[in-house]
Amino acid sequence: MKTYTTHQHLNYLETVQWPIGQTPLLNLAATAAAAGLPDSVRLLAKAEWFNLSGSVKDRAARRIIQTAEAEGKLWPGMTLLDSSSGNMALSYASLGRLHGYKVKLFVPANATPARLTLLQNYSIDLTLTDPALGSDGAMAAARALAAQNPRYFYANQYDNPANWEAYYATLAPEVWQQTGGQVTHFVAGVGSGGTFTGAARWLKECNPAIFCATVQPQTEKEGIKGLKFMATAVPPKTYDPSLADAHLAVTAVEANATRQLLADCEGLSVGPSGGANVAAALQLGRTLDQGTIVTLFPDDSRYYS
Ligand SMILES: Cc1ncc(COP(=O)(O)O)c(C=O)c1O
Repeated sequence: MKTYTTHQHLNYLETVQWPIGQTPLLNLAATAAAAGLPDSVRLLAKAEWFNLSGSVKDRAARRIIQTAEAEGKLWPGMTLLDSSSGNMALSYASLGRLHGYKVKLFVPANATPARLTLLQNYSIDLTLTDPALGSDGAMAAARALAAQNPRYFYANQYDNPANWEAYYATLAPEVWQQTGGQVTHFVAGVGSGGTFTGAARWLKECNPAIFCATVQPQTEKEGIKGLKFMATAVPPKTYDPSLADAHLAVTAVEANATRQLLADCEGLSVGPSGGANVAAALQLGRTLDQGTIVTLFPDDSRYYS
């Protein structure tokens, strides 16, 4: 039997990476069957709440920080500045502090109380912005401060290519590997557009026949947290609509009904944008005779109380 000294244990522990990426790909067979999809259409979803701070945005935050460090734009003692509607704020708080940076964030005051409470656990500088202006209002406040004060590292998730590159480098190759290259359709909601743009770009480079669809709220007023109604939003540079073969519209009522279906069929308690993604994937699945549709759960329900 191999024995370990304490020192060897410590060495092992020091090599453990914080969990970001390599998330499970869940087979939503019961949901697909309940929604009337044929057996020949598979519905799969990446469970992104397995990431360190509980959402898909850890992938983008990690890449934004690592890229800025490598490019000499971020160094010890600096403050990372950005805006977020909620999840990216938690990713910045957790990864920013982990990497030894100060963190200054603008978040709309109508972010969920659970997220705001959690954010207050971190030693960060948090400013709440006008809820009526949503994430675009928070972005304008961050941009104004960055323009006044260049000593901040302005991470600028809505314009920073490291955002979409994170999904190009991690999420899409995981989907390819976990489906053994059988993915035929990819469906993702858009906020900054990073998830959709990075993953769709990689998948189409691998196989141009893969059909990629965005998920967007049906109207500006749906209020599905994390998703933007692109027709009226400030267009993020991290979103490339030319990669989309279709835009699937979902109402908040459909998103919530689908969350309920997922709870009943799979025992999953997902966030609203995860409900919207699966509602859109089911819309698409009903038009197909066969295929493997992959979508994602950007987070679970823990932050929505
Ligand atoms: C819950 C949730 N869903 C979806 C998204 C959209 O992801 P992306 O910004 O990569 O478009 C976000 C982004 O913050 C989110 O927090």
